[in-house]
Amino acid sequence: MGDLTDVKKLLGTQAVDRFVTEGMRLGLGTGSTAIWAARRLAERMTAGTLRGIHAVTTSLQTELEARSLGIPLTTLNDARLSGGLDLVIDGADEVDPERNLIKGGGGALLREKIIAYASRRLIIIVDHTKLSQRLCERFAIPVEIVVDALATVSARIAEMGGEATLRMALRKAGPVVTDLGNLLLDVSFREAFDARRMEDELKLIPGVLENGLFTKKKPELLIGNADGSMEYRAL
Ligand code: A5P
Repeated sequence: MGDLTDVKKLLGTQAVDRFVTEGMRLGLGTGSTAIWAARRLAERMTAGTLRGIHAVTTSLQTELEARSLGIPLTTLNDARLSGGLDLVIDGADEVDPERNLIKGGGGALLREKIIAYASRRLIIIVDHTKLSQRLCERFAIPVEIVVDALATVSARIAEMGGEATLRMALRKAGPVVTDLGNLLLDVSFREAFDARRMEDELKLIPGVLENGLFTKKKPELLIGNADGSMEYRAL
C-alpha cells in the first residue's frame, strides 16, 4: 500500500462490496474514508450491479459528492424509509476496545448520529491509526451547540473537568458553522471517563444538540492496515 489514502479507498470499496445489497435503505457517511464508499456505490449503480438503493447522506460534503456521481438521494423523512435504514457506512476519529467511537472530526456528528442510531447495522471503516486504548487519548469530543449557549455550555463542561475549545474555521474568519447552522466545541478530558455515561451527560446540558460519543449502537468494524490487510470485528 502507498499511503493511508489507498487503505481508505480499499475500506470504502470493500464495505460496499461486502455489505450492501439490492434495495437497501443506505446511509452514506462523511469524511476522507467514507467518501470512498459513496464512490464505489456510484460505480456499482452505474454498472447496474446494485439496484433499488435508497441513499441518505450525513453531510453536505457527501451530498455534493453523491450528486456529482449521479447517486439519487432521499432523506430520512421519505415515507418509503419508515424512519429507519438497513445499513450505514461511516468513518470514525477514534475507536476504543469496546467499539465505542468518537466521531465528528468533519463536523457532521449531528446528522451522523441521527442516521447511525436509526440504522439496523452500522459499519464503521477505519484505518489502524484510529484505534486507541481509551477515548480522548488522541482526539477531543466534538460537541454541537446552539450559538447562544457557547458560554454556558463551556462553563458546565469546565465544571465536569473538561476543556472546551471553540472550533475555528480555516479560510473564513471566525468559528466553524456546521451544515445545520450551529457551533462546535472540541472537548477534552485528562482523566479517564465512562464513555456511555459521558455521552448522556453531555447531551443533557441545555444548548447541546449532540456530541460525538457513539456508545449506544455497537458498530461492526472494518479496520484497514498499512499492508492492505483488513480485519472485521463485530464481537
Ligand atoms: C465526520 O464528522 C466524522 O465523523 C468522520 O466520520 C470522521 O471524522 C472520520 O473522518 P476521516 O475518515 O476523514 O478520518
